[in-house]
Amino acid sequence: MKVSVVAHPQFVVADIDPRLYGSFIEHLGRAVYTGIHEPGHATADANGMRRDVIDLVKELDVPIVRYPGGNFVSAYNWEDGVGPKEERPVRLDLAWHTSESNEVGLHEFADWCVSANTEMMLAVNLGSRGLDEARNLLEYANHPGGSEWSDKRIANGRKEPFDVKLWCLGNEMDGPWQIGHKTADEYGRLAHETAKAMRAFDDKLELIVCGSSHSEMPTYPEWEATVLDHTYNEVDYISLHMYFDNQANNTPNYLAMNRKLDDYIMSVAGVIDYIKAKKRSSKQVYISFDEWNVWYHSKEQDKKILEGADGWPFAPPLLEDIYNFEDVLQVGLILNTFIRRSHVVRIACLAQLVNVIAPIMTAPNGPAWRQTIYYPFLFASRFGRGKALDLKVAGPTYRSDVAGDVSCLDVSAVHDKEGGAVSFFIVNRSDRVIEAEFDLAAFGRNLSIADHQVMMHADLKAVNSEANMMNVAPKKADTAVLADGRLSATFAPYSYQMVRIKV
Ligand code: AHR
Repeated sequence: MKVSVVAHPQFVVADIDPRLYGSFIEHLGRAVYTGIHEPGHATADANGMRRDVIDLVKELDVPIVRYPGGNFVSAYNWEDGVGPKEERPVRLDLAWHTSESNEVGLHEFADWCVSANTEMMLAVNLGSRGLDEARNLLEYANHPGGSEWSDKRIANGRKEPFDVKLWCLGNEMDGPWQIGHKTADEYGRLAHETAKAMRAFDDKLELIVCGSSHSEMPTYPEWEATVLDHTYNEVDYISLHMYFDNQANNTPNYLAMNRKLDDYIMSVAGVIDYIKAKKRSSKQVYISFDEWNVWYHSKEQDKKILEGADGWPFAPPLLEDIYNFEDVLQVGLILNTFIRRSHVVRIACLAQLVNVIAPIMTAPNGPAWRQTIYYPFLFASRFGRGKALDLKVAGPTYRSDVAGDVSCLDVSAVHDKEGGAVSFFIVNRSDRVIEAEFDLAAFGRNLSIADHQVMMHADLKAVNSEANMMNVAPKKADTAVLADGRLSATFAPYSYQMVRIKV
């Protein structure tokens, strides 16, 4: 099979917001406790944070981390997590039926963000609580001092404000599973008033209103229209979530699902434009895709853990999906979609970061290692910053049941002008060998291959584990040929490649 790709420096989709490569840590399972935080671990720092995990997060170069949930936030009292540790209450977490010690809260997480070279993106509780809690938290976090809440922060040991810029107005409020679930009108009104109050404090905040939890929700896309009708002029982003699964064990269908993701994004972009026109607004709202990943491997195990649990366990191993090689391809496809739609998706968060549906796993008292999906995220995060290119791709397709025809070779590219490079992220999602030719003549003739990484595996279900951490890992390749402004390369069936061209 043959594919041809044309790239041109002037055919640009958008300047990518680096926050497209964000992630997420929720007080859920072992994400926090024995994930990022494990006092007594051989690598623990003075705050009890695991340095081996911090190193891996730094390697991923994650610009923002959403916190503290997720479903957890909708019954969370942020005050429980500040102040002297010995006075912090143990609470029952109603979202995940576990116990929360509150040993880690805002201050500890903020310090961890500094160590991990990332920024905090905070969610406020609009489930069990509301506007008042949100404005107090904002004052606590961002006001320099001289008011009740900011002085409490100072008394709790933090003189400088945290200066959190990005705020989520609740989480998945369309979901009946959410504590304090609301109708679109109820939530839209509350989100509007909360945003108004937060803007009265600081009109430079970036605010994210909840969109749909996924595109199969019965309220989608009416939810987006109603919520934006209430909030359009007060918010900057609408949040979307989507998780991918191969429960049916059908690889062609599984690997076609990013087509559904693309439809979801573009439909919500249409709703945004509709409300923008309706409001005669000159302001542009964008999408924050602040939860996405593969999530299904752990579902049966989780049922057993919660059914067999004695009451309200503390940090049980929930949502510990062990990712396989097939998921590398899926994550590569999802990231390609975000890059191609980076004119509307400005922020995205891989859900989540450690242990809970995560690229990084830890063993309590033991090592941390990279799951298979770590790598496509690593390549996109490190080399996918700059201008997303509007590629012209011609080649064969296959028919899927879930999303109609999809291209066999899925490609995205980012031009990093300052770094003088164009990076291609390429997934062959078909079972055939593909010969592809990339026309790069518009970038000049003085081109060279700076890096070429390949991921393939004889077994689509191969995984990494504590005992075999490098079973699925990228390898450097030297098979591509670059001559006279044209790159020729071969793509093995079911493979992921990253090619970086110096221009
Ligand atoms: O990321 C796991 C959960 O998925 C989050 O808590 C929730 O927002 C979503 O349903």
